[in-house]
Amino acid sequence: MCGIVGYVGPQQAQHVVVEGLRRLEYRGYDSAGVALVVPDGTGPGRIAEAKKAGKLANLEKVVADSPLPASHTGIGHTRWATHGAPNDVNAHPHLGHERRVALVHNGIIENFAELRSRLEADDHVLVSETDTEVVAHLVELQVQSGVDLTTAMQRVCLVLEGAFTLVAIDAHDPERVVAARRNSPLVVGVGEGEHFLGSDVAAFIEHTREALELGQDQVVCITRDGVEITDFRGRPAEGRRYHVDWDLSAAEKDGHDWFMRKEIFEQPKAVADSLLGRRTQHGLLQLDEMRLSDDEIRDIDKIIIIACGTSFYAGMVAKYAIEHWTRIPVEVELSSEFRYRDPILDHSTLVVAISQSGETADTLQAIRHARTQRSRVLAICNTNGSTIPRESDAVIYTHAGPEIGVASTKGFLTQLVACYLLALYVAQVKGTRYGDEIDQIMGQLEAIPEQIETVLAGAQQVYDLAAEHTGARSVLFLGRHAGYPVALEGALKLKELAYLHAEGFAAGELKHGPIALVEEGLPVLCVVPPRGRDQLHEKMISGIQEVRARGARTICLAEEGDTKIEPYADVLVRLPQVPVLLQPLVATIPLQLFACELATLLGHDVDQPRNLAKSVTVE
Ligand code: F6R
Repeated sequence: MCGIVGYVGPQQAQHVVVEGLRRLEYRGYDSAGVALVVPDGTGPGRIAEAKKAGKLANLEKVVADSPLPASHTGIGHTRWATHGAPNDVNAHPHLGHERRVALVHNGIIENFAELRSRLEADDHVLVSETDTEVVAHLVELQVQSGVDLTTAMQRVCLVLEGAFTLVAIDAHDPERVVAARRNSPLVVGVGEGEHFLGSDVAAFIEHTREALELGQDQVVCITRDGVEITDFRGRPAEGRRYHVDWDLSAAEKDGHDWFMRKEIFEQPKAVADSLLGRRTQHGLLQLDEMRLSDDEIRDIDKIIIIACGTSFYAGMVAKYAIEHWTRIPVEVELSSEFRYRDPILDHSTLVVAISQSGETADTLQAIRHARTQRSRVLAICNTNGSTIPRESDAVIYTHAGPEIGVASTKGFLTQLVACYLLALYVAQVKGTRYGDEIDQIMGQLEAIPEQIETVLAGAQQVYDLAAEHTGARSVLFLGRHAGYPVALEGALKLKELAYLHAEGFAAGELKHGPIALVEEGLPVLCVVPPRGRDQLHEKMISGIQEVRARGARTICLAEEGDTKIEPYADVLVRLPQVPVLLQPLVATIPLQLFACELATLLGHDVDQPRNLAKSVTVE
């Protein structure tokens, strides 16, 4: 997730901003930059800026080689690429047409393509591929028309769609930094004769512990002595003032004990961001970055999904959705197995490679093999510019932001979203679903972030459950249909974090062997499908009855209003009502919370489990 810093005060802005960026490094990034207002005693000032792909050290080298002038007002940014590759040109800050305004941005501007074409029609030259540069041009146009930077920002925010934190400086106004936020975080640091802006308090807690959190759709102007907040229409507004008593490590985790827990709680936003900008003005689904023509999509007669670990389970869910919505046969295979079995591939096979990191060696080798067989490869990836999307024919980026905890959480949920989008897009192109059906499913997907919030609001119940199971030696997970990969994912999370024996099964498979494992008191977590489709629910209840009759303690995840499950559940964790194909998006959350909490109680390092690495770059 991008990091943002702003400063105005007596100190050297470059120093404060770069130090702030260093404090935000933990968020993950692929380039960094800084811009300063350099006043000119006699006339309007100018913007001085430096930016560089790679780590902050690269930027520091640039400013060491060509030092920036002294300044007391500046902004900085660490970028996690979404629109456009991670390179020097796409790095922030971006400047307006006349280099009067410099701006940094975190988030996604959904209508940037339309805004960009309008600017280009007016002879604006945009040098980067980013959505951010468009906003820099728009803000500059406003200040050029005579309004101040605050008003300019308010006006521009009214035409932007999507999620954003924006921070800007104006060369003609050296005493202020102006920022805005919608669906993306922004905090003001309140100092003595100086003020700060940050994507989180880590950016400035070495200077001040007094913070002001901005509300939704607000604009803030900071000067040395003041903070002024308005809404996008210029009406006075207020932020939430608080004192930060966290240490730096807690500040980085937004007050959570682990990055993993923070990332679990970020999932409503991660899912919402992954859905942003996916529909045209006319309601049609669009996957901008996908790069497969409609003809190529119509030619597909088989899909093979390859992935490892958690991403493989996302692929298993995808199979249910793709086959149901598109009627194209789908195989799902572990990357490490795929290329060594001589798979049958040709130009009408689409290979979908799912990888959060984009660097997993097994998956990379598998896609290289698929391409030698003339198959087209589509990557679903969270890391812009990583090797897997670079070596694929097409890509859908998930917008989870960097995932720091080794165990994948928001990466998994956003992979699911990308898979649903792919399935619906293919259905749209091939005409296997009517437009209004696709529209209805998109509406259901768009409701998911709020439903995840409800699940997260019930976290305490899951934590209590974890506390009851610190002595467990083994835990089983059961699911059916799209709930089966969720069961596998729940078991994987518990294995990797709590180092406990955990296994996931398709509930119908139990009686064919695994039921022999069941003994008195064995905890069995059951992902109960929603009621009313293909007897799935009834069949699942039979499976639950079977284990309960043999002494298992059944912990059932079931939708609100499901009363039939009550007699068979020793513990009932409620889920929001969602269609069966989308249920993994809500049912996975309690399992993530369970594993995270149990591992914490057992004293394990949740973010760095033993023997594991975040990206596995060896076969
Ligand atoms: C489990 C986990 C791993 C990864 C797997 C694939 O929590 O994170 O199982 O899912 O190593 O990694 P990517 O998706 O980066 O290819």
